[in-house]
Amino acid sequence: MRRRIKKKVVAFFAIGFIMVIAIIVSIIMIVNYNKKIHSIPYKLEKLGYQQEEIDFFEDFTQKENAKPSMDEILNRPYHKELATFLKEKYFIYNNLERYLSYKDKHTELTTTEVVSLVNVNRDYEYYEHVQKTDTNKENIMLVNKYYALDKDFAFDDLVDVSIQHCYGNQKIREEVYDKFKQMFNDAKKENLTIIINSSYRTYDYQEGLWNNYARQHDEAWADNYAARAGHSEHQTGLTIDVTTYGVKEQGDFENTDEFAWMQENAHKYGFILRYPKNQENITGYSYESWHYRYVGVDVATKIYEEGITFDEYYAFYLNEE
Ligand code: DAL
Ligand code: ZN
Repeated sequence: MRRRIKKKVVAFFAIGFIMVIAIIVSIIMIVNYNKKIHSIPYKLEKLGYQQEEIDFFEDFTQKENAKPSMDEILNRPYHKELATFLKEKYFIYNNLERYLSYKDKHTELTTTEVVSLVNVNRDYEYYEHVQKTDTNKENIMLVNKYYALDKDFAFDDLVDVSIQHCYGNQKIREEVYDKFKQMFNDAKKENLTIIINSSYRTYDYQEGLWNNYARQHDEAWADNYAARAGHSEHQTGLTIDVTTYGVKEQGDFENTDEFAWMQENAHKYGFILRYPKNQENITGYSYESWHYRYVGVDVATKIYEEGITFDEYYAFYLNEE
């Protein structure tokens, strides 16, 4: 009798013990599950991201002031290229939506190409979305098909270029002329002669030039080779078209020793080749081996080292919007 009672008590405690364990295990499982479904990796996975992307997002958003934040990534729809865009060297957070929508429309482009194009506003038509050039930036102001100067803008320190350095009557900003002279003299030491054949041009002059091109050819042709009035860097007094002896067509400057020397050295004096070959879609102009823009030595050197256009440089390093 006592044995039977003892057995019952043992069984009671054993069952009780098992039940307690089962409850504890269930609670742990529920807590863990709850933790999992509220975890960031789980939410990212549910959105459609792969482990590699999840790891990248977690890493990316750890950085101070990371944009987009993890909340933003979680609150936006899945995009298969989001992580790739965030890894782009010239990624600009404010342009994110424009990158994604441009990429969706131009699937043939790489994310690197999309970032370059959108950064320089190529997701808008030329002359659409025109902003005023920030002339307070002086030597590093941007003038292109999206940034325009007022009709009457001109620096008040334009100086005449001496006849030994140019053809015709030329004016440029004083600082630009000083740097040009240094470049001219150093090139001379190697028996090279860099001659300015166009520099500061007024709004009205540029208008006449463009109109002539449009009359002789058509508007599209004119837009490829000349800026519309207000959109020409020549109005800044920071730009020079150069040539040398024996060059008949402007484009032949590319085949001269002077061009080769400038390719290697112009940045040391603050000049950059403004419309490089194969960058027509970024700059908006056909290749011009003769058109150099003064931006100062530091910026020119950085542009030279990074191998980007001034439009891209401006968008990434100088635009405060
Ligand atoms: N040829 C350059 C684009 C200008 O007209 O300013
Ligand atoms: Zn030019």
